[in-house]
Amino acid sequence: MFISFEGVDGSGKSTQLELLWAALVAEGREVVATREPGGTELGERVRALLLDGPTITPWAEAALFAAARAELVEGVIRPALARGATVLCDRYLDSSLAYQGLARGLGLERVLELNLSAVGGLLPDRTFLLLIDPLLAGERLGEPTDRIEREGQSFRAAVDAAYRQLAARFSERIVAFDGARPAAELAAQIRADLALAACARADLARAEGTPVA
Ligand SMILES: Nc1ncnc2c1ncn2[C@@H]1O[C@H](COP(=O)(O)OP(=O)(O)OP(=O)(O)O)[C@@H](O)[C@H]1O
Ligand SMILES: [Mg+2]
Repeated sequence: MFISFEGVDGSGKSTQLELLWAALVAEGREVVATREPGGTELGERVRALLLDGPTITPWAEAALFAAARAELVEGVIRPALARGATVLCDRYLDSSLAYQGLARGLGLERVLELNLSAVGGLLPDRTFLLLIDPLLAGERLGEPTDRIEREGQSFRAAVDAAYRQLAARFSERIVAFDGARPAAELAAQIRADLALAACARADLARAEGTPVA
């Protein structure tokens, strides 16, 4: 199963990823956790360029994120899924749709097309989106640490609006939560959603295995 976490900086993605990782490992599952951009040697170099490098045009930024993602999918995510591991990804293609496609105005469809090509169409089975007032997220983070964080409050508000749009557009896959809730409560909601999804898959498999009268 492939699961991604999304939300503005400071929304609690890494916190929830770690909590879910610990819960799944405690169940004895193989879990591969990775982050975007990064997770491969090329990806880590691209990460450094994107987060602390020179100013960059919006399409160059989108293409670099897509390049790092392509590498991560081929090198890490697909092999892990093929051997039956659960993959937890701290940001995935929805980040590009929200940041570059909508907040920077490159266009949702064009950025989606670029990224679907880069990853060979691989989408998460579930995407947990942590929605939070961008002001509160900013307060949690304190001093900005990278180039995108330094863009400030209006950009963060645009990204927040973009994520809400994505949740409506991809409602089958993206499950949105109130990121202002306590971390332990959110972790329980996420595990409950996954348990329900597993039940739904089992029901479907049974239904498909049943001969139709
Ligand atoms: N539900 C929560 N309630 C209160 N504080 C939280 C919650 N979740 C995370 N935090 C705190 O908020 C800060 C940001 O959390 P975290 O690093 O998980 O966010 P993030 O979305 O991964 O941020 P970034 O995009 O910068 O990596 C941390 O100090 C974390 O301890
Ligand atoms: Mg994080």
